Amino acid sequence: MSEKANKQRAGGSSNWIDMRNMLSEFNRSLSLIVDKELLLSNIVVKIKQIVSVEKVSVFLMQHDTDKFLPAASSQPEEEVSRNTLFSAKDKLINWFSVNESLLVVSRSPSILHYFSPEEQELIRTMQSECIYPLKVMNRLTGLVFIGRKNDRADYSQDELDLLALLLDQAAVAIENAVLYEEQSARIKKMYRADRLAILGQLAAGAAHEIRNPLTAIRSTMQYLGKEMKGSDKAEMIDELMEEVDRINKIVQGLLSFAKPTELETARIDTEALIRETLSLVNNLLKKQSVAVNYRNLADDPVIVADPAQLKQVFLNILLNAVEAMAESNDKTVNIVLENSRPVDMRSRYLIVSFEDNGKGVETENIENVFNPFYTTKKEGTGLGLPISYGIINKHNGEMELTSRPGAGTKLVIKLPQALK
Ligand SMILES: Nc1ncnc2c1ncn2[C@@H]1O[C@H](COP(=O)(O)OP(=O)(O)OP(=O)(O)O)[C@@H](O)[C@H]1O
Ligand SMILES: [Mg+2]
Repeated sequence: MSEKANKQRAGGSSNWIDMRNMLSEFNRSLSLIVDKELLLSNIVVKIKQIVSVEKVSVFLMQHDTDKFLPAASSQPEEEVSRNTLFSAKDKLINWFSVNESLLVVSRSPSILHYFSPEEQELIRTMQSECIYPLKVMNRLTGLVFIGRKNDRADYSQDELDLLALLLDQAAVAIENAVLYEEQSARIKKMYRADRLAILGQLAAGAAHEIRNPLTAIRSTMQYLGKEMKGSDKAEMIDELMEEVDRINKIVQGLLSFAKPTELETARIDTEALIRETLSLVNNLLKKQSVAVNYRNLADDPVIVADPAQLKQVFLNILLNAVEAMAESNDKTVNIVLENSRPVDMRSRYLIVSFEDNGKGVETENIENVFNPFYTTKKEGTGLGLPISYGIINKHNGEMELTSRPGAGTKLVIKLPQALK
């Protein structure tokens, strides 16, 4: 558009042109920011400079599940809860995928009726006036919900044009940041797998060496215990036996981390397996007043896996969650079961996630949690997660821990699943 045309459309005002030039400059800088959070917060601030609004929420599509989750928001937590999500099948997503255009709610009230009652309700509570689709190469990658203007006036065409100028470029920058994030995570995972494999070999060697003398010590002590029965020294022997048993347990744990027992696989219903695991810890959960919020979003929960070993993994994670929430007031574990989108013609992942609102893991310690013997607990062996990692690895799956220190921890397990 020529400078003259710009002036004409803006009613002679140079404000629009200034804003447009400023945005072009800003857009250029967007591509330099690789930190997704920083990028999103910059974009939200810029939106608020273009239109004076209180409420802006950005939802982004997750590459592995096709779900749209909140990624940035200037709204109070209760309005856009962290559990709010849209799936690719939802009407709202469908509408934007097909129409690929922004929606100004008050200009097209009839379109609202096309959305589901829950979607309409969400738009109402967020007081969204403009919903803008983020697109990269004609693919919907996110949605930006922008609220009513503070002065309650309608959005002008100039404002909508400026938003388009910003958000079309922002969509590309966000996609790049997401890809960068995924790439870094992949590299980290590779390093971790290498490190754990080396640690595993070392551990197996050491465990082997310890096990034989330990068996000799144990049987000698057992003999001495019998000889001394009745004397007060027998009590000392009993205490020593307990210590030996503790070492034995650690050695066993080390060995199962280094060399997980062979998988006994069967077709299993993961949904049922999670319920079974929950019933095992039901008493503990009740005693500790832990609420479990379990959502099964998977249309197919069947995988080929070793049920006993998977149960052990789920148990380890649940126990860690309960232990981490010892000091929380409101203790909740959110468990979600879902299918990923296909990774190729034949397979996808079944994803199980456990999220607690316990004390979390300090950022600098996240990389340590899968290392054998890393523990922050008095009675912990630090083998729960490494063993679980070994089991998931053996299933050709993946396991990831993310945490917000002081707020909670999320464990995500991905297990391969054949497509029907
Ligand atoms: N849900 C969680 N919340 C906060 N920290 C966690 C969580 N899960 C694991 N951790 C941290 O990771 C460490 C290692 O966990 P892991 O299960 O391997 O061993 P542990 O729980 O300490 O001992 P064990 O499992 O043998 O009882 C824990 O000590 C804790 O610091
Ligand atoms: Mg543990």
